[in-house]
Amino acid sequence: MRIAVVGTGYVGLVTGTCLAESGNQVVCIDKVAAKIELLKSGGIPIYEPGLAELVHRNAKDGRLSFTTDLGAGIAEAEIVFIAVGTPQGDDGGADLSGVYAVAEQIGRHLNGYKIVVVKSTVPVGTNAEVARRIAAVTDCPFDVASNPEFLKEGAAIEDFNKPDRVVVGVRKPEVGERLRELYAPFLRTDRPFLVMTPESAEMTKYVANCMLATKISFINEMANLCERYGADINQVRRGIGHDQRIGFHFLHPGVGYGGSCFPKDIRAVIHMAKAKGVPAAMMEAVDSVNEAQKAVLGGKILSHFGPRLDGKTIAVWGLAFKPRTDDIREAPSLTLIDLLLERGAAVRVHDPEAIPNVRALYGDRLIYCDRPYGALEQADALAIVTEWNEFRNPDFEVMLRLMRQPIIFDGRNLYEPATMKRLGFQYQGIGRAM
Ligand code: UGA
Repeated sequence: MRIAVVGTGYVGLVTGTCLAESGNQVVCIDKVAAKIELLKSGGIPIYEPGLAELVHRNAKDGRLSFTTDLGAGIAEAEIVFIAVGTPQGDDGGADLSGVYAVAEQIGRHLNGYKIVVVKSTVPVGTNAEVARRIAAVTDCPFDVASNPEFLKEGAAIEDFNKPDRVVVGVRKPEVGERLRELYAPFLRTDRPFLVMTPESAEMTKYVANCMLATKISFINEMANLCERYGADINQVRRGIGHDQRIGFHFLHPGVGYGGSCFPKDIRAVIHMAKAKGVPAAMMEAVDSVNEAQKAVLGGKILSHFGPRLDGKTIAVWGLAFKPRTDDIREAPSLTLIDLLLERGAAVRVHDPEAIPNVRALYGDRLIYCDRPYGALEQADALAIVTEWNEFRNPDFEVMLRLMRQPIIFDGRNLYEPATMKRLGFQYQGIGRAM
């Protein structure tokens, strides 16, 4: 099939590349000329494992190309994906200006029947509005379909290639059938292709992220409670997870969720609820528990050292909001760094991928270290914020030698408290018994 994808963020680029890899002819379109130039010259604007190799191979084989020219890009396409960002607007709702601007441009350039697929995360009713706006500027026939994505940053290619399910929202069964053919190479036999209304598909995306964020805020609240009463959340997690109604997944306590999806999607749902006068008490609680959780690690540091940190050096391991990405949007590390700087600490940071993004925000207010051990030199404490694999089995002897004081505040529960005590560290995790 001939496909166009508008938007070369991590969703658009991964979608376009994986669809090219399965044999389709794909054009990726972006209005930012610098991104397109970078992609054409073999560069990748984001860090996503495995993506660069796939982009290169498909571009070389002629299945994947890049342009800033939307009209030319969609001219030959039968299916046009909209995969532009829907950031949080000033009122907390999703900002749809990008989606609508692209929809109108697609409408103006239609040169025959096409299926326009909205992949961006959008509030219920947006697909219908996209259809209205396209119809207002063209006489060509077209259909609009909703096709939410469930890609995790850092594992986006694998998630695209092996989806748990594919959801499409359509008004006509034949549009669903065409999309089923597009996705057929990716669907293992036991994985469903689910056809529903556009409204249900739009809502499915938000409900999925609300459920996942709820699990995280839930376990974080329970972990904080465990800590005060001398229970251990890891033992408790084992105790509940074998109940098949509960399970183990997505119940890791930590420093709160960040990223480009959960925070904005939860707030968009609160905004959608308010617009209809429906209570959103659960989602408001999930959001506020998470904001509080982002402050927990900093709170532990202040309870240990006192309210001022002048003359103290704090090392921070992990800046990205999760491992295997360089993304620092809404990252809990930023909440911690702001606090440490405000209280007068010198802050030495290490992250395998996210340092350039953090440097762009903080400039020379932080000390950037290429290696994890470099960050520990003369540190009065280490705060672990992201669970990169390379932090899981460090050389504790070397750490003891490098640090001024052997104190670890572990926001991701990477180590066993008893082991750490035996090694000579003062160690605090999240919800772990001392
Ligand atoms: C999330 C969803 O998992 C995807 O299914 C969805 O497609 C995506 O949002 C989106 O809407 O585009 P992502 O934000 O990339 O994906 O990352 P996750 O792996 O879900 O992690 C989100 C945050 O939750 C991270 O900060 C992570 O540290 C935190 N988390 C996750 C926990 O604190 N505990 C857990 O048990 C799991």
